[in-house]
Amino acid sequence: MSSPFFFISTSSDYIEYQIFVSKCIQMGNLDMKVLVVGGGGREHTLVWKLAQSVRVSKVYCAPGNAGTAGIGTNLPISDNDIPALLTFARDNNIGLTVVGPEVPLVNGIVDEFEAAGLRIFGPNARAAILEGSKVFTKELLYKYGIPTAEYHRFTDASKALDFLASNTVYPIVVKADGLAAGKGVLISLSREEAQQGVKDMMEDKVFGNAGDEIIIEEFMTGPELSMLCFVDSKTAKPMVSAKDYKRIGEGDTGLNTGGMGAISPNPLYDQELENYCLENIIEPTLEGMRQEGRPFKGILYCGIMLTESGPKVLEYNVRFGDPETQVILPRLETDLVDIFEAVIDDKLAELDVRWDKAAAATVVLASKGYPEAYPKGLPITGLDEVKGSVVFHAGTSEKESDTVTSGGRVLNVTTRAYSLEDALSASYQNADLIQFDGKTIRRDIGS
Ligand code: AMP
Ligand code: GLY
Repeated sequence: MSSPFFFISTSSDYIEYQIFVSKCIQMGNLDMKVLVVGGGGREHTLVWKLAQSVRVSKVYCAPGNAGTAGIGTNLPISDNDIPALLTFARDNNIGLTVVGPEVPLVNGIVDEFEAAGLRIFGPNARAAILEGSKVFTKELLYKYGIPTAEYHRFTDASKALDFLASNTVYPIVVKADGLAAGKGVLISLSREEAQQGVKDMMEDKVFGNAGDEIIIEEFMTGPELSMLCFVDSKTAKPMVSAKDYKRIGEGDTGLNTGGMGAISPNPLYDQELENYCLENIIEPTLEGMRQEGRPFKGILYCGIMLTESGPKVLEYNVRFGDPETQVILPRLETDLVDIFEAVIDDKLAELDVRWDKAAAATVVLASKGYPEAYPKGLPITGLDEVKGSVVFHAGTSEKESDTVTSGGRVLNVTTRAYSLEDALSASYQNADLIQFDGKTIRRDIGS
C-alpha cells in the first residue's frame, strides 16, 4: 500500500536499499491483500500498521470504523460471522487474515480458515480456551505450578453462596468462567456484594452461559502490567511493555472499562522482570498447553499483578490488548506482515523483531456514561486540527460525510515521542482539540 521511499545519501542507506530489494525478491509477493477482523481502536492500529508494509497492496477491515475506512476498505460483515468472512477471504484472494477480538478466535475462526487452506494469524479454538474459560486457565496454571491467585470453582449457586457465608476475608473476586465482553470480573468489597455477584451471574444469567460456572478468587494487590508476546509453536518473543488504565475514573476509581488509556514502556518493567515472567509464567504456560495437546500460536497477552510475593497471573488473553496495541505497534520497526507470517510458518526464532527506543501514549476519548449506557450518533469535530498525534478510531462511523460516535470508547489520541512526558503532553493537547457532546477523558494517564 504505502510505496517504499528511499533517500539514498549515505552508504548505509544504500545497504538498507539492497536489503529491501533482496527481501522483495525473496518474498515474491508484494501484492498481498490483508483482512483485519474487528472494528475498534486495536483494529484501526492494526490496519494502519499493516498498510505501512511494503508487501501489502490492500487492507480490508470487517466491520471496521470511520478510521479504518480512511486507510482501507470496510466490509459490512460482523466480526463474528465466520462463514461470511471465510467466503470473502476465499473469493477475494486474501493472503493473510488477522483477527482482533477474542470471540471469533474462541469460536474457531482459525480452524475454519485453515481447513479451507487460507492463511490466518491467531490461535485455534483449542488454544483460545486460555481466554475462553477462566476455569480451564486456573486449572492449567495450578497443574503446571504457575503463580496465580488461590481460587475455588462452582457450578452450583447455592454452594458458592455457602462458601461466601463462611468466608471472612474481603475483598474477594468473583469471575464468570466464559467470555463476558470484559465485564465478567467483580471485585467484591463485602460478603453482600459477592453474594449479589454470584446471584447475578449464576441465577439471573447476566452474562448468559458465561456464568454457568464461576470462580471465586483471592483478592491480590499490587501494580499491574500487561505482557504481550508473539508466539509460534516453539518460540515466544515479548513485545515492548505497556500499561493499561482500566478504571473509568481518575486515581483508578469507578467501574472497569476496556481501558481508558495506555503508555509504553511500562515504567515498572525491566529486563530482569521480563526474564522472570518469561521463565516462570509464559514459557511454562506454553509448555503446559503443548503437553495438553493445545499448542498455542498467535498473540499471548498475560495480565500480571506484581504482588509482594512476586508476579502472579491475573488472566490470559489470546489477542492484542486494546488500547495497549495503540502504544505498542507504533514502536515496532520490523514489518508486521513478516512477523505474522513467521508465526504461521513456525519461523519466529529466525526473525529479528526490532523495536524503537521511543515512548508512546494513548488517551481514550469515551462517551458520557461508558462503561454503562451511552448515547450514539453524536457529531465529532476537530479531528482535522490534530497535529503530531495519530487518532486511532474506536467507536466511530460515517454519517452523511460526518464522523459520529458509535461506541463507548470513541477515539484514541496516540503519540510516539522521545519521552513519555512529551508523548502524553501531545496526546492531551490534541485530545482537547476534538469535541463531541459528553466527551470523557481520564486526565491521569501516565502519571
Ligand atoms: P481480568 O479480566 O481477569 O484481568 O480482570 C480485570 C481486572 O480485575 C484486572 O486487570 C485486575 O485489575 C482485577 N482483578 C482480576 N483478578 C483479580 C484478583 N484476583 N485480585 C485483584 N484484582 C483482580
Ligand atoms: N486492555 C485490556 C484488554 O485488552 O483486555
